Amino acid sequence: MDNFQFQNPTKLIFGKGTLKNLQSEIPAYGKRVLLLYGGGSIKRSGLYDQVMDQLKELDAFVVELGGVEPNPRLTTVNKGISLIRENKLDFILAVGGGSVIDCAKSIAAGTHYEGDVWDIVINKAVPVAATPIGVVLTLAATGSEMNGNSVITNWELKSKRYFGSILVYPKFSILDPELTYSVPLDQTIYGIVDIMSHVFEQYFHATESAPIQEQIGEAILRTVIETAPKLVKELNNYDYRAIMMLNGTLALNGLLAMGVRTDWATHNIEHAVSAVHDIPHGGGLAILFPHWMEHVAKTRPEKIAQLGERVFNLAKEGKSDAQLAAETIASLRAFWTSIGAPATLSYYDIDETEIEKMVESAMITPTIGSYVPLKAEDVRNLLRKSL
Ligand code: NZQ
Ligand code: ZN
Repeated sequence: MDNFQFQNPTKLIFGKGTLKNLQSEIPAYGKRVLLLYGGGSIKRSGLYDQVMDQLKELDAFVVELGGVEPNPRLTTVNKGISLIRENKLDFILAVGGGSVIDCAKSIAAGTHYEGDVWDIVINKAVPVAATPIGVVLTLAATGSEMNGNSVITNWELKSKRYFGSILVYPKFSILDPELTYSVPLDQTIYGIVDIMSHVFEQYFHATESAPIQEQIGEAILRTVIETAPKLVKELNNYDYRAIMMLNGTLALNGLLAMGVRTDWATHNIEHAVSAVHDIPHGGGLAILFPHWMEHVAKTRPEKIAQLGERVFNLAKEGKSDAQLAAETIASLRAFWTSIGAPATLSYYDIDETEIEKMVESAMITPTIGSYVPLKAEDVRNLLRKSL
């Protein structure tokens, strides 16, 4: 295990009816609020009205920025920064999924940076301060509600990049599983795939001996695999939504990354695919991850075999690691297909002509990933196989 430090300052407020905690949480940070939300789901579900009622009761001064895109864009981040500066706001309330929360984090850091916030997103500048953020989570997927990452798309450059900072962890996150009842089936499936993929990115690490982290990851995966088929049939089941919500948070709140060099190559490639073709993050991962595993299995099949034995309950006896790894990948594909996840890039009308742009966008360093570092040629092959 490598040396590490761990700090997670986000207060989680989990359960039914917890929205009212805005009353006790917000005043600590100020009552001049930027209310950030997405394309309208919170208006349709009635959550917008409930949040506004809470803010009125607090006598808060509220400026709204709606329309945050799935795969949030730099242009929207800049709008938020201007609104905070013009109105001297002191708090951001992000009501939504990962996109809204990520947008809030870049606004929070960018407000306190004199230059172009894109410098922060591409790690050219380091945030020195950030406007405090509170979250009302509406979708179980990214873990953004309890981490310091912000993923932003610069559409002009066809580049989707991210930064991480302790300064932008949400001060608090309200996780009421009932607020995810309205998440449609496709987004529910994408969330499930994203959660599993976050475990994979950290499970396939380049560090010797990290059995605790791996077994926590396996427990999350087993719980997702057990719950997902029931959830997709019963979207309004409280327990299934609650289990998935907590799984999503635990999969990417720093727990699994303690003391290990994590991989993230598949996320890099998916971000490149989304930057060029604007597809849902979880949909892209469902297509790409089995191909990444096939590439990795050529040289390092043992951990994939371990995953098959421990998570997909495959029998090991009499099989080589390579055979067991192949069965594991087949089981993963079958599982994702069974819940309705896509399996080919053509599902999103992506063809050969876009691959070169995606390779270019993915290769932010000469190789990506650490478990098995990928070169541009590997990424190109992986994308071609995914068509
Ligand atoms: O925009 P609205 O109208 O709100 O609709 C959203 C959006 O269309 C809808 N939705 C969310 N909650 C809903 C709902 N619809 C009905 N009822 C609800 N309760 O779902 C759609 C997708 O929302 P989005 O926030 O984009 O999804 P997700 O949470 O999957 O976030 C994806 C973004 O997060 C980034 C991804 O790259 C992508 O940009 N990621 C962020 C990470 C992080 N910060 O740590 C890590 C991840 O790996 C990921 O890269
Ligand atoms: Zn992800």
